[in-house]
Amino acid sequence: MDDSRRSFLTRATQGLLGFGFLAGIWPYLRSLFPNVLYEPPLRFKVGAPAQYAEGVTFLDDRRVYIFREGNAFHCVSGVCSHLGCTVKYSPFRQVKELTVRDLSYSSKGEFHCPCHGSKFYDEGTNYAGPAPGPLKWHNLEISPEDGQLMVNMRKDVNRDFRLVV
Ligand code: FES
Repeated sequence: MDDSRRSFLTRATQGLLGFGFLAGIWPYLRSLFPNVLYEPPLRFKVGAPAQYAEGVTFLDDRRVYIFREGNAFHCVSGVCSHLGCTVKYSPFRQVKELTVRDLSYSSKGEFHCPCHGSKFYDEGTNYAGPAPGPLKWHNLEISPEDGQLMVNMRKDVNRDFRLVV
C-alpha cells in the first residue's frame, strides 16, 4: 500500500470516527437548550386611563377590549371561548335592553366570532353559535409606579367589576 493511499484511508477513518462521535453526543448537546415557548406576560400595562376615549377600545396585540364609561373601566377578553379566535366588536345603532340570566341589561353592542359564528353580548355572555361559555373578564388595576392601567389575565373577575379612577 503506498503512502498516499494509506494517508487517505487514515483521514477517512478519522473523519468517520469524528462524525460518529458528534452524532453520539448531539442529543446531549441539544439537551442543554430545552424547547421553551416564550409567551407574552399575562400581566401588562396598557397606557394611562386618560388616553382611552369613552366606549370600547380594542388592543389587538393583547386581544383584549377596554371599556370606558366615564371614570369606570373594565376589560373583556377578545378570545372566543370556542376555539380561541379573536372576536370582533360591533356597536349597535341604539342601546338594546336585554335580559341575561334573569337580569335586565342595556347592551350597546355585541361580539362576533369570525371563525364559527358565535355571538356574545357586550358583557360577554354567549347567545349564539358553538361557544360553550362567555368571554372572560380580566382584572384591571392601576400601576403604583406610573398610574397606567394594568390588565391581569391571571385573575378573572365578575361582570360587575369596575375600576373607578
Ligand atoms: S372559535 Fe369562535 S366560534 Fe369557533
